[in-house]
Amino acid sequence: MDVVSIRDFSREQIEHVLKIADKMVPIAKGEERSVLLEGFVLGSLFYEPSTRTRLSFDCAMTRLGGRTLGFDEPKGSSVAKGETLADTIRMVDAYCDVIVLRHPQEGAARLAAHFAGKPVINAGDGAGQHPTQTMLDLFTIRKEKKSIEGMNVVLVGDLKYGRTVHSLAEALAMFGAQLTFVAPPSLQIPKEHLKQVEAMGEKPKISSSLQDVIGDADVLYVTRIQKERFPDPAEYQKVAGTYRIDLEMLKDVKKDMMIMHPLPRVGEIAPEVDLTPHAKYFDQAFNGVPVRMALLGLVLGGLK
Ligand code: NCD
Repeated sequence: MDVVSIRDFSREQIEHVLKIADKMVPIAKGEERSVLLEGFVLGSLFYEPSTRTRLSFDCAMTRLGGRTLGFDEPKGSSVAKGETLADTIRMVDAYCDVIVLRHPQEGAARLAAHFAGKPVINAGDGAGQHPTQTMLDLFTIRKEKKSIEGMNVVLVGDLKYGRTVHSLAEALAMFGAQLTFVAPPSLQIPKEHLKQVEAMGEKPKISSSLQDVIGDADVLYVTRIQKERFPDPAEYQKVAGTYRIDLEMLKDVKKDMMIMHPLPRVGEIAPEVDLTPHAKYFDQAFNGVPVRMALLGLVLGGLK
């Protein structure tokens, strides 16, 4: 099956992925060996920069005994000669067993899934969705808080262009979390995603002031302003640096409030926050490995 949008998954299906991911942790850490995906090949096509997503897929595949091929920079492939996405996908489809695609255009993964016979996993399509990031985010919250239901999750930063929050907000609503969206008015969560959240019976709060809401947060999900998606650099300058989490900001937060960030951060979280018990973003980044192992095992390895 393809993994294109979080909307394609039921709560039960996501719970199942998280359960398998839990069992993958010792293999992800290198404490146990596995040959579950021996002989399988993953095609990894990254048309946009990536560190965590690309390397954790590669790590997940390798830890399960499989191999990865592909590119991390379309300039070195026939894309630079003008090859269409559809043609590249048809080729890679013949060379591998599963395709992981990151692309600047929203809808690219859906298009790829149409042309590929093999399963396609969306590793981020423009300002669209990032479903595997959502699963590792849910895994991280579940691990720290034991439950997602009833948690007060504050999502802050670029909610307009940030694809991680688009898929995460919808999934959190499905799991019964309470949501607060904090952004400058020009970067608030798009109507399409808000509607989806409300359709799940959630009544999210909308604010532009982090100070007003941070005290009630169980989870603070911080995001980078997505500079590369702004049509006008002057518009980016107006909102750059709007929110910064530092020790002063954390003065009156709940003792067990956890801070997450899909990373990379570019100034939204001061380095001194890393030393507080609130900081969970590096654990979160590691969790990408067991969660992606679970997905690959389900898609390729006959795990049920
Ligand atoms: C995010 C992305 O690419 O959407 N990174 C990631 O996959 N962990 C977030 C970002 O780039 O800001």
